[in-house]
Amino acid sequence: MRLTYTAASGSFIFFRMTNKELVIVTGAGGLIGSEAACFFHARGFAVVGIDNDKRSYFFGPTASTAWKVKELQQSLPHYQHHAIDITDLQALTPLFTKEGARIRLVVHCAAQPSHDWASREPYTDFAINANGTLHLLELTRQYCPQAVFIFTSTNKVYGDLPNALPLIENPRRWEVDSSHPFAARGIDESMSIDQCTHSLFGVSKTAADLMVQEYGRYFGLRTVIFRGGCLTGPSHSGAELHGFLAYLVQSAVQQRPYTIFGYKGKQVRDNIHSADLVSAFAAVMENPPAPGTVYNMGGSRHANISMLEAIDWLQARLGWSVNYTIDENKARKGDHIWYISDVSKFKSDYPSWKYSYTIEDILGEMTEAALVKNSAG
Ligand SMILES: NC(=O)c1ccc[n+]([C@@H]2O[C@H](COP(=O)([O-])OP(=O)(O)OC[C@H]3O[C@@H](n4cnc5c(N)ncnc54)[C@H](O)[C@@H]3O)[C@@H](O)[C@H]2O)c1
Repeated sequence: MRLTYTAASGSFIFFRMTNKELVIVTGAGGLIGSEAACFFHARGFAVVGIDNDKRSYFFGPTASTAWKVKELQQSLPHYQHHAIDITDLQALTPLFTKEGARIRLVVHCAAQPSHDWASREPYTDFAINANGTLHLLELTRQYCPQAVFIFTSTNKVYGDLPNALPLIENPRRWEVDSSHPFAARGIDESMSIDQCTHSLFGVSKTAADLMVQEYGRYFGLRTVIFRGGCLTGPSHSGAELHGFLAYLVQSAVQQRPYTIFGYKGKQVRDNIHSADLVSAFAAVMENPPAPGTVYNMGGSRHANISMLEAIDWLQARLGWSVNYTIDENKARKGDHIWYISDVSKFKSDYPSWKYSYTIEDILGEMTEAALVKNSAG
């Protein structure tokens, strides 16, 4: 192990002397970052995780991801953690200058992830989501242009345009009129990202999404953008303002009241398990698409659910009623009423990639984890 003092960050950085190729994961304590760290570590890579637990600043101590970082540090011998803020270019730079040559992949997951929170602190939101992404792109361009750069974008780049689709109200969910081209497989990448309401969060992520595309198209970096639907999994530190399924499951298990924000509880989301998303990351690392390629990625028609359907499922599984109310006054600006990702483009480029989780698998796993956590106090 080598000990380096970096004047820039004013801190000591430990680099393990190993020839392993390196994967950098930002947001390593979060749902997707932690899954990616474990996945690539298990495949023989050294992993450098960056996460300053900003999530606890956004959503309070119950949403902290520090527990996950501790778990990674304890369980992965070739994992190294840096509690750096991605807005701090000076602190980030030494990681790339020292290790650039062996960086094979950058998985950029760190973000301010909530619409509502972004409106509280627009500068913070933009600095993290847009400027932080630019720092990472520029460091990749300067010190590891050979690396594949994966950006976890969001379906919020489409703003509220999905709400202009011809929606049909069914007893437990909204659906799109069956005559519409998006009805069979969901929304594809041809949907406009322009001239609609995004929320400030949607705009900061869109700025980053475009910049990641541009570093691919303009500089030829191997950048790939995944525009996620709802991402779920056992490591989600659920918060009311982010991670609806995780928060609903936690509330149901703990028998706490749950408020649905508008749309009669019939809003539909597609959900993809973190493991399935990360296996898609591995596919693009092995065989990168054209620089700047964008993929819509989510549970698609394979795994989607409305709030009311999720509550029905939980009540049947738990054997008690979920204490929920629907507050139509709290319907969030720009929130999607129906969103299902069309993942055909990705599946056609990577035909051997398959889902391993259904929506029932996802809900089942989250419920078991919440029951265990609850019984442990
Ligand atoms: N979860 C979803 O449903 C969803 C949907 C679409 C897109 N996404 C995107 O996917 C990515 C990963 O989402 P997630 O659910 O794993 O998020 P998460 O909130 O679970 O994890 C993000 C991590 O980034 C860290 N972080 C935030 N700001 C930081 C900063 N300035 N410096 C360093 N670390 C910082 C947080 O502490 C947190 O641990 C995000 O970019 C998000 O916008 C998520």
